Formats: sequence, structure tokens, C-alpha cells
Amino acid sequence: SERTLVLIKPDGVRRGLIGDVIARIERKGLTIAAMELRQLDAETAKTHYAEHSERPFFGELVDFITSAPLVALVVEGPRAIEAFRGLAGLTDPVKSAPGTIRGDHALEIGENVVHGSDSPESAAREIKIFFPDRF
Ligand code: GTP
Ligand code: MG
Repeated sequence: SERTLVLIKPDGVRRGLIGDVIARIERKGLTIAAMELRQLDAETAKTHYAEHSERPFFGELVDFITSAPLVALVVEGPRAIEAFRGLAGLTDPVKSAPGTIRGDHALEIGENVVHGSDSPESAAREIKIFFPDRF
């Protein structure tokens, strides 16, 4: 079994999609090992998105992710990282198939509802940022 960090980003929370995302996670057979509603400070956001620090949209990304509360979850199950990325769809919501979270709910890359860790190394790093004492 594997763990992944999932974020329901501020656009998802604002639009009332917490229940929809959690329902998809549960319906898939994944389990929720931790969950918290919180608003990130800039420091935490920059640490979480460190791999994108040189990208032109980094400032926008940090401003957006800190703009309002998000829901952070640790999701667990067999191949949880790949399983959740499958539920989420592609980074670009317009290229994401209907039936995925982004394919069903989003149009813009910058507001694509969810985040999911992309590798075991990212998952371990990101889980430590959001739930330092829990795992
Ligand atoms: P996450 O699960 O959120 O990490 O998405 P991802 O792995 O599908 O995409 P990636 O890690 O490449 O980018 C992280 C986040 O940055 C994306 O989810 C987008 O919200 C945002 N992002 C990526 N590319 C762009 C862009 O060109 N413009 C803007 N504004 N945001 C972008
Ligand atoms: Mg990513």
C-alpha cells in the first residue's frame, strides 16, 4: 500500500467540490488517512511548489494557493499515487477526459481543482510538509 498527498485547492473549496472529490476517492476504493482544512502561508506554499520556483507562473501559483482555504488529505491504497492522478486527469483541464475531476470541473490550468503527488519521493516530501507529526 502507498500514500499520496492530495490537495483540494482553493478553487475547489470555493466552488463546493470538497464532497465530490472525496466521493471519487472513496468510490475508487482509496482510503483517507488524514484530512485538514487550512489556509497556507507563502512560506509553506513555496516549499510545496519548490520544483516550480523558476517557472514564470510561480508567483501566480503561490498567490493562488494561499488565497483561501484548501483541504489537504493523505490518501492511501494500492498504487495510490497513480490511482489518484488517474482520478484527477491531466494538468490542462481542457485536455482531461470527462469523467476525471479536472475533465468534469475545470477549464483553466491555473485553477484545476486538485493536486496529487507525482512520485513516491514527492509524496513523502509533501506529506511531511502538511502533516509533519502524523506519518
Ligand atoms: P499538481 O497535481 O497541482 O502538481 O498538478 P500537475 O502535477 O498536473 O502539474 P504541475 O506539477 O506541472 O504544475 C503544478 C500546478 O501549477 C498545476 O496543477 C497548475 O495549477 C499550475 N500550473 C502549471 N502550469 C501552469 C501554467 O502554465 N500557468 C499557470 N497559471 N499555472 C500553471
Ligand atoms: Mg505536480
